[in-house]
Amino acid sequence: MSSNYLFQSVQPQGANVPAEINSISTEETPKLFTPITCKSVTFRNRIVVPPMCMYSSTDGFLNDYHVAHYGSFALKRPAMVIIEATAVEARGRISAHDSGIWSDDHIAPLRRVVNVLKSQGTVAAIQIAHAGRKANMGTSWMPGGYHNLSEQEGGWPTDVVGPSELAFDEIHANPNALSISELKDLVQKWADAAIRANKAGIDVLEIHSAHGYLLHNFLSGNSNKRTDQYGGSLENRLRFPLEVARAVRNVWPQEKPLWVRLSGTDFENPEILGHDETGWDVYQSIEYAKALKEIGVDVIDVSSGGNLPNVKYPVGKLYQVPLSNAIKHKANIATGAVGIITEPKEAEEILQKEEADFILVGREHLRDPAWTNRAASELGVHVKWINQYERANRRPKL
Ligand SMILES: Cc1cc2nc3c(=O)[nH]c(=O)nc-3n(C[C@H](O)[C@H](O)[C@H](O)COP(=O)(O)O)c2cc1C
Repeated sequence: MSSNYLFQSVQPQGANVPAEINSISTEETPKLFTPITCKSVTFRNRIVVPPMCMYSSTDGFLNDYHVAHYGSFALKRPAMVIIEATAVEARGRISAHDSGIWSDDHIAPLRRVVNVLKSQGTVAAIQIAHAGRKANMGTSWMPGGYHNLSEQEGGWPTDVVGPSELAFDEIHANPNALSISELKDLVQKWADAAIRANKAGIDVLEIHSAHGYLLHNFLSGNSNKRTDQYGGSLENRLRFPLEVARAVRNVWPQEKPLWVRLSGTDFENPEILGHDETGWDVYQSIEYAKALKEIGVDVIDVSSGGNLPNVKYPVGKLYQVPLSNAIKHKANIATGAVGIITEPKEAEEILQKEEADFILVGREHLRDPAWTNRAASELGVHVKWINQYERANRRPKL
């Protein structure tokens, strides 16, 4: 592809000034760098930094570390950064150091990060979450590593919750089964979290219903053994996650996009598109995505796994893309593809083949926060760097 100079942007003059993006695209423009508009939000390209827990908060508060961490991506111009899984209630944290949004006091520190993202014209998103039966764990680099936290360590081992009294594995806490009145309270907590995210200036909200956390625990028959209206049939297992999505959509501004992350399969059946009717598979994910679309969800962010220990993952390049492709076309909804997408040409191919609408690049952004610049260079697109770094973009001829 020949080099072109299509992407120009006017840089902010100071902190907290939204960047103006003047991007023009033609038929030649790689799809990865073709802007897309969803409701009130225009994405300058299709590159998204997915949510990645940093386990660096105290009492759920974001701090200077997060400003630097998220700012490092914003300077390199992906379209959107999704702030890590952020707990809607304190007992819904994976670890004692997760980010949280269960009180109004969390809004101001979150707004600092949002301002940094927006000052660079980056769409600011956050993933709101509840860890369910996988809550209350230590982080790998802290004393004791990944283990069920005791109360002395600041944990809440007797207050871990899920759909059923079924632990994830022998090292996780034994969860208490949530009562129907607790479920109603929890729906409100998700809605309150959405209201706070909006007050902090977030543009795009993502509901976490993947990776074996609370909403996924309800979706899958592998973790949901309830015999009331929240368990058993697919309709019953979808009930609580859909109540959450509906409540969030009702309070989240209609003009702002709502994303949902799901796991396309539990891998109980090791085939990526294999059937697991009583557990969780792509066919049920499609039904879930259709119901979410009806509620007003705009994009499904398609991941996989996390709900069962001791299952084999077919991990490899682009391995989750078939799930995105199936959900996109069968539920007729926009999707994001994620999972070992490291090369710009692969990302472009996924978009060209219409297997997804957005590309989420996680660990490769931790390795190289300038992945967007690399992608532009490899695909022959000129992306204007921020003014402050522009001299580095003009390589001297040696
Ligand atoms: C350090 C780290 C933290 C993560 N935290 C989250 C999270 O908060 N929420 C989530 O949905 N996924 C989380 N993930 C999964 C990523 O969003 C992504 O789906 C996964 O890393 C696969 O994409 P990749 O191969 O591009 O890294 C995390 C991954 C990493 C490496």
